[in-house]
Amino acid sequence: MLTLLGACRIDMHVQPRQNPLSRSDFFTDQRSARPPVEGAIARGQLREDTYFYTGKLGNNPGEQMPFPVTREVLDRGRERYNIFCAPCHSRVGDGNGFIPSRGFARKPPSFHIVRLQKAPAGYFFDVITNGFGIMPDYASQIPAQDRWNIIAYVRALQLRQNATLSDVPAGQKIPSEPPKFREPGSGATLPATLPDTKEIEKEESK
Ligand code: HEC
Repeated sequence: MLTLLGACRIDMHVQPRQNPLSRSDFFTDQRSARPPVEGAIARGQLREDTYFYTGKLGNNPGEQMPFPVTREVLDRGRERYNIFCAPCHSRVGDGNGFIPSRGFARKPPSFHIVRLQKAPAGYFFDVITNGFGIMPDYASQIPAQDRWNIIAYVRALQLRQNATLSDVPAGQKIPSEPPKFREPGSGATLPATLPDTKEIEKEESK
């Protein structure tokens, strides 16, 4: 009985196996470490929603956002835009950011030119993901969800620079009236604004 058990133990020690990354006589490429089967997908990396990850429908950039644009999407988009894009494209998107002002090889185009106003959302996704000309890509810094959030905000910037009278909410004067101050700021303190009288009337009539 004892000898039998002993034999078993020895077997486990000398079973046929390869040391990590050792040479193999079995495979023609002589590698014991085998590449994953073609088409294998790492856990959590199945990108079923192609549009969400490429911005493309077939070979063409798509027009629409892959999810509804909410206030949260725009807020997040603005935050990310101001971090990742504004240094070059400026906070208003006219291309006069700080980096080009200090001699970056080329000034970025304004987002308010007709060509980029008309460019579909998926085109912006592609530029952020793969870069464009001398602009580096931001695929590793900005996850896909945030790329779309940024695009929603760029669209808002574009609308803001090209708004017409019909975009102004009814009843708002143009240019909007300057704010009224209860106390002017001293330079060290912010001015205290009076609440909008129309808003107060509305509240009181409720
Ligand atoms: C380091 C500076 C820099 C940053 C940061 C940057 N860009 Fe750019 N971007 C450029 C430059 C420069 C160009 C023009 C490139 C060229 O023509 O070679 C450009 C071009 C573009 C274009 C226009 C492509 C076209 O068809 O003309 C888009 C859209 C764009 N950038 C979007 C973005 C967005 C969105 C971000 C933020 C995620 C961003 N960029 C961040 C420098 C930058």
